[in-house]
Amino acid sequence: MKIFIDSANLTDIEESLKRGFAQGITTNPSLLAKEPKSSFEAHIGKIIDLIKKYQPGIHLSVEVFSRDQKTILDQAQKFIKQFGYPEMSIKVQVGWDELETIKKLSAAGISVNCTACMNVTQAVMAARAGAKYVSLFWGRIRDGGTDAAMTKERDEAINKKALDGDDFNPFKVVQATRQIFDQDKIPSEIITGSMRGAVDVRDARLAGAHIVTVPPKFFPDMISHFKTDQVVNQFLSDFEKWLS
Ligand code: E4P
Repeated sequence: MKIFIDSANLTDIEESLKRGFAQGITTNPSLLAKEPKSSFEAHIGKIIDLIKKYQPGIHLSVEVFSRDQKTILDQAQKFIKQFGYPEMSIKVQVGWDELETIKKLSAAGISVNCTACMNVTQAVMAARAGAKYVSLFWGRIRDGGTDAAMTKERDEAINKKALDGDDFNPFKVVQATRQIFDQDKIPSEIITGSMRGAVDVRDARLAGAHIVTVPPKFFPDMISHFKTDQVVNQFLSDFEKWLS
């Protein structure tokens, strides 16, 4: 199981990287927009500096910020050249027009992480177009089944048999995607994002994700347990009593 850090916060990234368990970082425009205003280039540069300091050579996904295919191509090529970080993957949103962009970038030797995938067919088509990684959004897949603002879209998709109930169960979506990748020998890796808690992280890997990208706020929950605290305190107090 590979754990990535899903953040653009420099303090959170540093605190995680120095502990050595993370094998990558994923960012997106919303995560960057939570940080103090600065230049995009300078901020990504600082993330790369932290990687070089603590875990040289780990994965970094950086997302394009446009829906125009020509701009996406230009941004992707610019990031690769500008940052010169060999393990950088460019996040490109999934979509019909985007498939051609993914194909072009992959053919040019650029690692693509196809992001915002919500179902199996999106993930398979992106992988077939050349994406090295497909990001399936666990929490948002689940939300898709209940989101009141999306009732019309959900009903339309179900009525035309584009989706069914299984498409809102993230465990089933990731499991089916992994099964198809393995059966058909598709070499792309599944990243699950949109984690909503430590339990999601465990379940995403059990469902077949190769990589789980996790917001740093969940790391303390992943590494602690109330019974651990109890037993460690008990051992220490027993030993102190014996010493005195
Ligand atoms: C990861 O690649 C995604 O950008 C991220 O996990 C999305 O998470 P969210 O649904 O919490 O925005």
